[in-house]
This record gives sequence, structure tokens and C-alpha cells, in this order.
Amino acid sequence: MTIGIIGSGRVGATLGKRWAQAGYTVLFGVRDPDAEKVRALLAEAGSNACTEHIEDIPRRTSAIVLATPHPALRAVIAQMGNLRSNILVDCTNPISPGLRLTVGHSSSGAEQLAGYVGGTPVVKAFNTMGFETMADPDFNGITASMFLCGDDDTANRTVANMAEDIGFDAVITGPLKHARYLEPMAMLWIEMAMGNEHGRDTAFRLLRRGQATGR
Ligand SMILES: NC(=O)c1ccc[n+]([C@@H]2O[C@H](COP(=O)([O-])OP(=O)(O)OC[C@H]3O[C@@H](n4cnc5c(N)ncnc54)[C@H](OP(=O)(O)O)[C@@H]3O)[C@@H](O)[C@H]2O)c1
Repeated sequence: MTIGIIGSGRVGATLGKRWAQAGYTVLFGVRDPDAEKVRALLAEAGSNACTEHIEDIPRRTSAIVLATPHPALRAVIAQMGNLRSNILVDCTNPISPGLRLTVGHSSSGAEQLAGYVGGTPVVKAFNTMGFETMADPDFNGITASMFLCGDDDTANRTVANMAEDIGFDAVITGPLKHARYLEPMAMLWIEMAMGNEHGRDTAFRLLRRGQATGR
């Protein structure tokens, strides 16, 4: 499976490296393929990863991971043009510079995104933990949960598999409107991570009675 990643900062680079190392083909859609940080990223990601023009990402990939600042989403979607049979994986959080959610209660950033792209399936995922946990979801033998939601069951399952393949406990929470709760959940994580008591090296885990908690 080929994964496109738009945004090769902390989130995009971390996830892309993990998927490339797990055997996926990863195309990073970047604005400047000659940038030093992009060259360094490709060197670390290995032979399964390369760069691609953002416009060509939909044609060459099936899942497209959106890991830009939330305000850039509309421009990125416009630049990609015609989405084909792609799944959009929305990792963004609609947070203003003052660390406040800019969408909520009766909608979410993910639902707004779905409104820009017609019938293309959108899955909200990888937004409720820090990029450090994306690099290593194992906490002393207990794996972090990766909560996701979306309206297309097949797309949800595909993204759950992508999460499991890099070591997450994937939790399909339900329809895309659950992003109204996953985005504030990210805000809770951020507030806790910024405080002195918890820090960034923390993650949420769903416990299920009657099942072993581990991998
Ligand atoms: N950091 C975390 O731990 C974390 C955790 C969960 C979710 N998130 C969310 O994930 C998203 C990315 O966060 P991040 O920390 O990875 O950000 P980041 O390190 O600042 O990286 C942002 C990336 O987006 C690219 N970008 C910005 N505008 C673009 C545009 N118009 N077209 C194409 N690419 C564009 C940047 O490209 P250039 O290099 O060309 O500038 C950069 O590669 C955010 O929405 C954030 O809320 C972050």
C-alpha cells in the first residue's frame, strides 16, 4: 500500500518514517524537495520513501495523511485537485496560536474537511497523542491507543490497520462526528503535556474488561 503524507514536520516525518520502516511505500508531498530537512528525512526513512509533488499525490497513493497546520488544509486540498479513490487521514487539530480550539460542539475540523472534499472518505486519526508517542507507542509493554473515527467502515479499517502496523492499539470510535470529541481530547492531552506533572511522554489507553491489556 502506498501512503501519501502532506506535511513532513514532527507528525508527518515521524509517521512516514515508521510506515516506511514497516514496509509501506511512503510519498512525502513537500513544498521544497531540496530542503536540507527533507533530504535528512529521506535518508532516515530509507528506500521505501521518496518525495512527490503535492499535485501528484492523489494519483500515486491510496491513503493521504494530512499533517499540516489546520489552517493550511483548504489550500492543500485545492492544490491536490481531483481526489480519486483516496482516503484522507486527518491528523490536524484546529487550534489557534493561543492554544484554543477554533471549532467545536456542533462540528469539528474533520467534518469541515469532509465538507471540502465531497464524498472522499475522511478519517480523523493520530491527533490525540504527541509525535513522540507516534515514534514509539510502547509504554513498558502497554501500547498507546490510537482513537479514530469516520463514516466509511472500509476506510476506518484501513487506517486502523495502518495504526496497528506501527504498534498502536487502534480504536475505531464510530462516525466522523466523533471528531467533535477527539479534537477536544487532543486539547486535554496538550494541556496536560504542557503542565509540570505529566509531560509529553504520556498517552491515552482504552481499557477493555475481559481482555488482556498489552499489544
Ligand atoms: N506536534 C504534535 O505532537 C502533534 C500531535 C498530534 C497532532 N498534531 C497536529 O498535526 C499537525 C502537524 O503538526 P506538526 O507538529 O507536525 O507541525 P510542524 O512540525 O510545524 O510541521 C508542519 C508541516 O506542514 C507543512 N505545511 C505547512 N503549510 C503547508 C501548505 N500550505 N502546504 C503543504 N505543506 C504545508 C510544513 O511544510 P514546510 O516544511 O514546507 O514549512 C511542515 O512540513 C497540526 O495540525 C497539529 O495540530 C501535532
